[in-house]
Amino acid sequence: MDLFDRLLTEFHASLAKVRNLQDLEAVRTQFLSRKGLLAESRKGFSFQTASPDERKEFGASFNDAKAAMEEAIEKRKGDLERTERRSQIREVDITLPGERPARGSLHPLTIVQSFIEDIFASLGFRVAEGFEIENDYYNFIALNIPEDHPAREMQDTFWLDNGMILRTHTSACQVRMMEQVKPPFRFIFPGRCFRYETIDASHENTFYQLEGLMVDRNVTVAHLIAVMKGLLSRVFGRDVMVRLRPGYFPFVEPGFELDIQCLICGGPGCSTCKHSGWVELLPCGMVHPNVLRFGGIDPDEWTGFAFGLGLTRLVMMRYGISDIRVLNSGDLRVMKQFAPSL
Ligand code: PHE
Repeated sequence: MDLFDRLLTEFHASLAKVRNLQDLEAVRTQFLSRKGLLAESRKGFSFQTASPDERKEFGASFNDAKAAMEEAIEKRKGDLERTERRSQIREVDITLPGERPARGSLHPLTIVQSFIEDIFASLGFRVAEGFEIENDYYNFIALNIPEDHPAREMQDTFWLDNGMILRTHTSACQVRMMEQVKPPFRFIFPGRCFRYETIDASHENTFYQLEGLMVDRNVTVAHLIAVMKGLLSRVFGRDVMVRLRPGYFPFVEPGFELDIQCLICGGPGCSTCKHSGWVELLPCGMVHPNVLRFGGIDPDEWTGFAFGLGLTRLVMMRYGISDIRVLNSGDLRVMKQFAPSL
């Protein structure tokens, strides 16, 4: 039918001129609305005089034309929307500040550990690490704690199925290192330790210690005390009250407990210091001759001191954290407070 061919030609010509969605909408209205050109085409056809076949043909052509127009408009619409989206992307202002990616921060324990490592490095100590999974020999026997020794009761131990244990203290590093290096030497061994503890505000089954070991000729208690005092004043950035008590550990003789006055409550007592005003911070002593012998070192020629700094406890003191559980909680809201900007 000429009529519809003409209409379609006209339609495609108009469509070709469309530049945006508004243009397209105008074309749609022009041709397809209730009073549009297509609808108007009906007026030129006399339904009364036409034969049924003619009516049928007209109707079919009308529908074909309508469908062709609608399809062309939909397709053009899709194209236009795509280009529009693309042009919007290009309009992004690249000079605007971007979104800040989330930044990690160091765990307070890591901060304190590296701080202490630096202090000991300046005193000629080297940093080494042992194993978290240890055997009975290095964790106990070589430290002068034979089987059935009551001291084993002091440290409730996690035993593994294969007979190994999770080390209960970093002292397990002592004899391992003695086997490898000849004195004189100075080492610190920071690391994670495990004890079968019921967890509360001041007990964890997983905690950190920092072991120190110095072996040389004529090392005495005076050296031990000097190093400990120097360390603590640098850690806390002020003078802290300390007290020394005799302490028993099978691998040192004499052995001491070095306590500091609780920095959280300042003395009156709180949950961290178990209401005593003092916090056990640093067990230490002179390396027992038997331990030196286990390490292949002659105790008549060499002496040494050792200490086991409770790193986790020190972190709590340093930052005023009163609940030990926070440190292993992985709670970033807590962790981030200690190193807001790395
Ligand atoms: N290893 C002991 C403990 O964890 C601490 C300690 C270390 C004591 C070194 C004396 C010397 O309890």
